[in-house]
Amino acid sequence: MDATDGFPVPAFAAGTTRAQAQAELRRAFAAAGIDSAALDARLLLAAALGIGPTSLFAHPDAPLDRAGAARLREYAARRLAREPIARILGEAEFWGLRFRLSPETLAPRPDTEAVVEAALAAIAPWRGPQLILDLGTGSGCILLALLSETKEAFGIGVDRSPAALATARANAQANGLADRAAFVASDWASALTGHFALIVSNPPYIRAEEIDALDPEVSRFDPLAALDGGPGGLDCYRAILSDAGRLLTPAGHIVFELGHDQTEPVADLAAEHGFAVETTRRDLGGHTRAMVLSRERALVSRGSSPT
Ligand SMILES: C[S@@+](CC[C@H](N)C(=O)[O-])C[C@H]1O[C@@H](n2cnc3c(N)ncnc32)[C@H](O)[C@@H]1O
Repeated sequence: MDATDGFPVPAFAAGTTRAQAQAELRRAFAAAGIDSAALDARLLLAAALGIGPTSLFAHPDAPLDRAGAARLREYAARRLAREPIARILGEAEFWGLRFRLSPETLAPRPDTEAVVEAALAAIAPWRGPQLILDLGTGSGCILLALLSETKEAFGIGVDRSPAALATARANAQANGLADRAAFVASDWASALTGHFALIVSNPPYIRAEEIDALDPEVSRFDPLAALDGGPGGLDCYRAILSDAGRLLTPAGHIVFELGHDQTEPVADLAAEHGFAVETTRRDLGGHTRAMVLSRERALVSRGSSPT
């Protein structure tokens, strides 16, 4: 099998119109089993021509020029090899902000917006400047979304990958948030000291043995370091929770993203480290996706008051 798994890349002969190219592309993607064939065809055609997707409707009979057709062939081959649209275009939208991607960063997922929503609800009572720690920041999407909503907060994004951190820094700059965000290379929080009112993390949580069975868009193109949660999927929660106590303010919150069947095991792990579940939040598909933990809630359920 070649890179496109044997699915032919449309040739887009000279004189092919935009409408014909879009239809050819849609058919090729559908034949390859790509669910979002129509949308992907529209997005890639518009990107290849350097126009907005809605402009395609204005001039459906305009022919492709040579450069546009060549770019479209390249994009089509990449999509047929199951590269996600966001990676082909080099950027993704998250929380209304734009994020550049690199091979070392996870492509931000819409489901992760549940983590941002849960964190914003937890910190709604904040007054004055506070510190946010984002463990496994990747593109910086969670931290930068939170900073865009909390005008007085400062944040540190941590990642083990220096290349991901470079991308996160560039994203902070591009979104006008670099003066309130710093990025640090560390194995989780081991290199950090200080006290944070909020710790957020979307850690790698896929069971190692399940990675090969994921959609090719994920298993081939997302970095393994962003996916692999160890044999049971929980290794990173364990590592983060064992260090969170020394870094969280007494009234602070931890907000985790969860895999679809991890609510109970992560709540149990949190309890072992002195944290209790305050609330959870569902994603767009109805799965519990975010969990808010606090020490205060654990103290209340044990019948003592926080110090
Ligand atoms: C699931 S991705 C999340 C990225 C981003 N926060 C998001 O939600 O799109 C997990 C991130 O954790 C980082 N990571 C994995 N192991 C780590 C470790 N031991 N210490 C710090 N970061 C780590 C990966 O490089 C990756 O960027």
